[in-house]
Amino acid sequence: MSSVPATGPATRQGASDAIPAHVAIIMDGNGRWAKARGLPRAAGHERGVEALRNTVEAAREMGIRCVTVFSFSTENWRRPTSEVSALFGLLKAYIRRDLARLKREGVRVRIAGTRDNLPEDIAKLVDEAERETAHNSAFHLTVAFNYGGREEIVRATQSLAGKVARGEIAPGDITENLFSAALDTRDLPDPDLLIRTSGERRISNFLLWQCAYSELVFSDVLWPDFDSEALRQAVAEFAGRERRYGAVTAGAS
Ligand code: FPP
Repeated sequence: MSSVPATGPATRQGASDAIPAHVAIIMDGNGRWAKARGLPRAAGHERGVEALRNTVEAAREMGIRCVTVFSFSTENWRRPTSEVSALFGLLKAYIRRDLARLKREGVRVRIAGTRDNLPEDIAKLVDEAERETAHNSAFHLTVAFNYGGREEIVRATQSLAGKVARGEIAPGDITENLFSAALDTRDLPDPDLLIRTSGERRISNFLLWQCAYSELVFSDVLWPDFDSEALRQAVAEFAGRERRYGAVTAGAS
């Protein structure tokens, strides 16, 4: 099993590296993009998949090692059934169409989120994507699907509580590292940069634990229009930030 060297307080204090190792993205604005063109919302999501392909490609070219995207939240079940079906269909189509290429290109695919209440065919495909790419390590693409940050934290807590109940670990053995290892993003460094598109400025229950020290960049671009230039701009903003992880600037008195 491959993992990416950890970044974080112990290793990256001070001015940020120019290129983030891990970029998390809230791909927002598909609906507005479609509405502005008189198209159904699903058309915005469809174009959103294209933007995802292009962004992953651009990220790899820039030397980013991990990208994690929010593509269906546990709260998105509240949307009209037709839109939920369209999003499920797009995930299926994405895996079916892109899995062989991603595998060939050394991309490790993970799906973060609960498998409970996922249709069986999707759960199978998701398992297949993870299994088929488990030995890849050139790039890490994580798709958060049926994902909620609080739900993930609750699931991790339940799993650790089970270990305590079975006597496998003691309560005092639970450290931040052990907790991180119980999350869906185990083996990935925490995101250095979190981008949200479409001008909204919220975290919306995405990677709540993992983004404790992430730099937040908000882009006005609607997700279907997001491209390599928009990614470059977000990374340039990140590169100009100073990351202190609660400490003071080196040399400050
Ligand atoms: C938010 O925009 C976006 C989503 C809820 C879904 C994101 C999904 C994709 C980009 C495509 C799916 C990709 C895969 C791999 C399945 P919104 O619909 O809330 O937009 P709005 O705020 O303008 O209404």
